[in-house]
Amino acid sequence: MTTSNIVLELIDAFRHSKTMFAAVELGIFDGARPAEYKELTRLLDACIPLGLLERRGDQYVNTDVADRYLRSDSPDTLTGYIRYSNRALFPMWGHLEDALREGSSRWKQVFGGDGPLFTHFYQSEDAMRQFLLGMHGFGRITSPPVVAAFDLSRFQHLVDLGGATGHLAGAARERYPNLKTTVFDLPQVAALFPQVTPGDFFTDPLPPADLYALGRILHDWSDEKCKTLLDKIYAALPPGGGLLVAEKLLSETNLAAQMQNLNMLVVTEGRERTAQGYTTLLRAAGFQHVEHRVTGAPLDATLAIK
Ligand SMILES: C[S@@+](CC[C@H](N)C(=O)[O-])C[C@H]1O[C@@H](n2cnc3c(N)ncnc32)[C@H](O)[C@@H]1O
Repeated sequence: MTTSNIVLELIDAFRHSKTMFAAVELGIFDGARPAEYKELTRLLDACIPLGLLERRGDQYVNTDVADRYLRSDSPDTLTGYIRYSNRALFPMWGHLEDALREGSSRWKQVFGGDGPLFTHFYQSEDAMRQFLLGMHGFGRITSPPVVAAFDLSRFQHLVDLGGATGHLAGAARERYPNLKTTVFDLPQVAALFPQVTPGDFFTDPLPPADLYALGRILHDWSDEKCKTLLDKIYAALPPGGGLLVAEKLLSETNLAAQMQNLNMLVVTEGRERTAQGYTTLLRAAGFQHVEHRVTGAPLDATLAIK
């Protein structure tokens, strides 16, 4: 591809995303054709070359990929993450230059208000639900390869810290049927998903386990807060106990990880880290044995043993 083609594609890239976001918001892939949108046909037509709709006679029907990932009642739906992207990420990325200059997230600039990081994500019950369903849709893709990246069959009890809807615990039980699992998350999350044990991993005692998991948690936080959490996990583990970390491993050529690293700047106080970066953090907490696996899926896996 020539340089000019890359540039032209990048000029258009946000238009592609926003077209899909709008179509999801309007319920197009659930069959809605809301009559009050005067220019709806323009949106439907644009979804055809994007590969999301096709024409059958005078009807627009979902392509297979749209039917699987963009219909809200599909088990593999990504609509939660798309709505969260449209309502939160898209406006915040509009201020990327400010985030780069100031080195901080854009919640206050875009939505106002102060407070701890996750009070921004959870500004309303709907915002929390969209965020968590977004995590869930991604997790259904990433958790099976993450739990398969290492042989975890020797562990008895997995506690997934910040485990949200429990997709990682579910994937782990499927692969290791004798494993007991507990999902631990903030009380607001537990109120929505009754199988979740409520608690704050910074301030409450951790449920006992011989294997903890942190899926997309460390990338939310500064090195100092990661150190606090990792020290606490290390202290709670028995000798030989483990910590499974699911994150993208940053490298120069991993485009998705580089994009997520910018996203973490815009949205959190954290960052993506290289394999070496995670090793350094884990070693500082006391973990001697640290191994990484690149899974080929959107999240990689790290196992640290006490
Ligand atoms: C980026 S999401 C990742 C969710 C899940 N692990 C996954 O991979 O899909 C971060 C999760 O951490 C939870 N969380 C944030 N702060 C927490 C805290 N102090 N204690 C417990 N959970 C927390 C959030 O509620 C959210 O579910």
